Amino acid sequence: MAEDPKTYRLDGKDVTVAFAATADALDLIYIGARLPDDEDLAGLSAASRCGHHENQPDVPPNAGLLPETKAGYAGRPAARVRKNGRLVDTDFRLRDLTATSDSFTAVWADHNIHLQVSVNWKLTPDDMLTCEYCFSNMGQHALFLESAPSLVLPLPSRFDRLTSFPGRWAREMQETHHDLGRGAIEMRSSGGKPGFDPGNWLLFSGGDNRGVIGCHICWNGDHFSHVEKGQDGRTMLIMESILDANDCDMPVGREIRSAGAIVAYARDQNCLTRKFHRHVRDEILPRRAKWGPRKVHLNSWEALVFDLSEQSLIALADQAAALGVERFVLDDGWFKGRRSPQSGLGDWTVDADIFPEGLEALIAHIKALGMDFGLWIEPEMISPDSDLYRNHPDWCIHDTSGYRPTQRHQLVLDLSRPEVMEYLTASINALLDTYDIAYIKWDHNRRLFPSGTAQANGYYALLSAITNAHPDVEIENCSSGGGRVDLRSLGLAHRVWPSDNNDPIERLRINQSWTKFLPLEILGNHVGPSPNPITGRRTDADFRAKVAIFGHMGLEANPAEMTEVERAILAQHIDLYKQWRSALHSGEFWQLDHGDKGIYGQIVVDGDKAIAFSAQTGFAQYFNVSPVRLKGLEPEAYYTVRLPKPWPTKASQYLADPDLWSGKLVLSGRALMEQGLALPLTHPETAWIITLETKAKA
Ligand code: GLA
Repeated sequence: MAEDPKTYRLDGKDVTVAFAATADALDLIYIGARLPDDEDLAGLSAASRCGHHENQPDVPPNAGLLPETKAGYAGRPAARVRKNGRLVDTDFRLRDLTATSDSFTAVWADHNIHLQVSVNWKLTPDDMLTCEYCFSNMGQHALFLESAPSLVLPLPSRFDRLTSFPGRWAREMQETHHDLGRGAIEMRSSGGKPGFDPGNWLLFSGGDNRGVIGCHICWNGDHFSHVEKGQDGRTMLIMESILDANDCDMPVGREIRSAGAIVAYARDQNCLTRKFHRHVRDEILPRRAKWGPRKVHLNSWEALVFDLSEQSLIALADQAAALGVERFVLDDGWFKGRRSPQSGLGDWTVDADIFPEGLEALIAHIKALGMDFGLWIEPEMISPDSDLYRNHPDWCIHDTSGYRPTQRHQLVLDLSRPEVMEYLTASINALLDTYDIAYIKWDHNRRLFPSGTAQANGYYALLSAITNAHPDVEIENCSSGGGRVDLRSLGLAHRVWPSDNNDPIERLRINQSWTKFLPLEILGNHVGPSPNPITGRRTDADFRAKVAIFGHMGLEANPAEMTEVERAILAQHIDLYKQWRSALHSGEFWQLDHGDKGIYGQIVVDGDKAIAFSAQTGFAQYFNVSPVRLKGLEPEAYYTVRLPKPWPTKASQYLADPDLWSGKLVLSGRALMEQGLALPLTHPETAWIITLETKAKA
């Protein structure tokens, strides 16, 4: 008879995670909806086990939370350890288990190489789970920790579908589904940042009523994720941060702590999304409660690119202010010698050819218009054509061969050098001390090669030094768009730039993926020019503006190049955003499914108010697409439903009763969620904004 395991559980509001420990294995035996308090966990563990099959080891291996190969487990081991250059077959034995109401810790030790490992699972107040591993060399010999996990998650077999988000520059986060069959799926990023490769944001699901699990590794360097279904039909997820070779050395006494990972369970995708949003709002974002409304930006990049002059910027600022913009962000090109992508990075002083008197006059003009000022920097980079490089050619990441391959004509500063950190801290602080800067767009446009996985900690240290010295300055994480988005970095920042691609059709898809994890107030969402400089597609101003409202709205185009009608459309949408941003940025979020192809929708419900959009990208199959069914409303409450103006010109001709939508229509939450609203969404690039306010029924 099998020995009775010791069992442990962590219970959130609607989730339970349970662990079972026997002499040789510690397993996660349950993750799912909250179990009754007196559930028989030993019984549950026994009921989840099967007997021995002919062609398995006589004691079938239980990989559990520390898979290793010693007992015949054929999947990836949790850790790879070397001694004297050779891989070691570890033999970890459980030593200690401790649990509190919101935390569970297990400790193992290997009795040959005396490596100790611990795992800690914690339940956060918002029902998320965090996991981290810690390795300590307690022996007499140096070791080399080639790989170590942040998360090991044995998945219940009902989760047989994986969603990952591979992408590329300007087409980030492409939602991709995999049916989990026998074998392994491996995902990694290289280049020293989360990048556009998949693996750091993952979803596991199954059919109806099976729930959804979301996982994220909070790490700004490279990651590796391994999902494998073994012969026994069990699926194992291992998430790792890729360690730099110099960081893997474990002299006697050294401890290596993994990057943290986050796991969340919910009954469906929208519930999971709201858990992530709550977690980001309550636990991750710094001092969020003190943030004012998220100001409307104008960013100079797509308006002027490198063609900067004081006059052109002042003219742009005048145009921006006239439309209702509240923050003017001076993008790339303002610093010494930066006339093109080929030069200047590293020389963080104002270019005297463009601004003979410094930035004061421009900033004073912007402030006089009632806007505040933001500035672009790319601190970790260096152009070979810069004073910094001429003075310190050895400050960049390079190997001894003298080979210095560039990307975007730039190299990367080595943040492990104290003199580099001192230089960057002093240069950025000097800018922030000298000028009235409310916002920094912190960019990172080059992958790190020949090597550079060690940069992540330097980046955290630099960002912390700057935010400690200037706690009121808002920071945007940008990396050629969404190449550097992780929840640890976000803990030091205020928003991310989800993509360089402002084409609204592309943005709808990109935002659909990001909003599964991140709330709208941290997703920069700008109205770009038409045609779009990346896709070449021409789109209507009304459509671009409606798409930009669902995020942190901004403008990334030159209003002087728009028609008067387009400027008026933009100004009206900026106004609408201002009226609704407090709901958009604190309410509860749902994605709206739509039966017809090419239609995207979202709704945010904030107490007695809600705002939704529905956007058609293609040309509909039917004259009338199916009604837009809303979500998240109070079924018994009555809502006044409006389609705020301006309306999309072409589509509004197909409104059956245009008069209905200006406040005359009052429907119950139930009717709006069950039946929905028939809106003209037939033509490509048509979007409707829907606002709802509760009304007492007479
Ligand atoms: C990156 C950013 C852009 C812009 C350019 C400037 O591509 O993502 O938004 O700032 O750099 O060089």
